[in-house]
Formats: sequence, structure tokens, C-alpha cells
Amino acid sequence: MHSLSDMQLDEIADALVATGYLVVDDLLPTELIHSLLTQFNSMKTTDFHVAGTGRLADFGIHHTVRSDRIHWIEPSNKTSAEFLHFMESLRLGINRRLFLGLFDYESHFAHYPIGAFYKKHVDSFRGAGEQGKQHKKNRVLSTVLYLNEHWQPDMGGELVIYAQENNRILAKVLPTLGRFVIFLSEKFPHEVLPAIQERNSIAGWFRVNEGEI
Ligand code: OGA
Ligand code: MN
Repeated sequence: MHSLSDMQLDEIADALVATGYLVVDDLLPTELIHSLLTQFNSMKTTDFHVAGTGRLADFGIHHTVRSDRIHWIEPSNKTSAEFLHFMESLRLGINRRLFLGLFDYESHFAHYPIGAFYKKHVDSFRGAGEQGKQHKKNRVLSTVLYLNEHWQPDMGGELVIYAQENNRILAKVLPTLGRFVIFLSEKFPHEVLPAIQERNSIAGWFRVNEGEI
């Protein structure tokens, strides 16, 4: 099973400290990317369900906010297990370097049908709880891996990352095969623009257990 190298981990940690986000094209091994692509393509429409926003009391289906379809990843087959193992090496490597206390990782396949979108949002649940109560497992680091072969700039579907302070666009990321994005969940509002092609990705979040802090 593959793990991240010390050099890769250093690069990610440095970027998180310097700017809070990183877009990188060659992080995951090519074989793993292709296995994930094969797994994604073999899944049926019925394997995906409508995604919600928020958790617990806030949980709701908001078609006006997002229109992707998701499938939560479990280590139930070799490819998913390898992906989760790889992300576990990222969790441990980042904890060793930045002391973020990342506790676990949750991730899902996301399928955006043609024209689907995810309006501007923040992934963190901080302060979003019922009567101001905090969620126990807050999202600290967001990741996205793209699984689209032959994606062209005129197809749309960019991830747009904004600066929290002034709403300026920091990055517009085309969802090309193997591209990996990582950012501090609390710091960056972001959105997914509609595309003229189906758009596939794996979104994931490293969480802290705030109940233990
Ligand atoms: C998300 C998300 C971004 C993307 O699922 O929360 O922001 O580019 N996804 O798919
Ligand atoms: Mn998001």
C-alpha cells in the first residue's frame, strides 16, 4: 500500500502554513487514481444519493445549495481501502508536522450531473450547531481529488476558492484527473461551478474531536 513521502508531506505542511491551501497534480500514485476512476465508473446511479448540508439538527436537503450525488467511502474493497490508507498517511504526517490533532477522515464520491453545482459554502461546522452548540467532530482540513479524464477549460466545473477577508478569488481549479486540492476548512469559502459534462470527485475531511479538546 502507498503512503505519502516525507517530501510530499513537507510540501503540503509548508503550503498550509504559508497560504492555507494547495493544488497539486501528482500526489496520489497513478495506479491508485486509475483504480478509483474504474471504481467510480462501475458504480450505478442507485449507489448515489442526494447530498445534504449540515449535520444533526441542521441537516437538510437543499437543492438550491448543491445538486451533486454522493456515496460515502468505506474500506470495503481494495481500492477504497488503499485510498483510505493513503489519506491516513496524510493525516499522520500532517499531525506530526503541524500538531493539528486530526482525529479521523470521512470522504465520499461525488457525482455532479451536467449543470450541477455547489453554491459558495464553508465546510467547517464550527458555530453551526443547534443553539450555538459546537459539533463534536469538526472539519479542519478539506480535500478534493478529481476523477475526470480529458477535462477541457471550456467545460466549466471549476472549484472556486475565495479569500474569507475580502471575497476575492484566490484560485479557480479545473477538475482534471488526479488533481488534488487541500485547504483549511474554516478559512476558505468555495463553490463548484456548473459544467457541461458530468463531473466526478472525491471530497473528504479530516476532523478533530472537539469533545476531547
Ligand atoms: C464539497 C466541495 C468541491 C469540489 O463537497 O464540500 O466543496 O470541487 N467539493 O468538488
Ligand atoms: Mn466544500
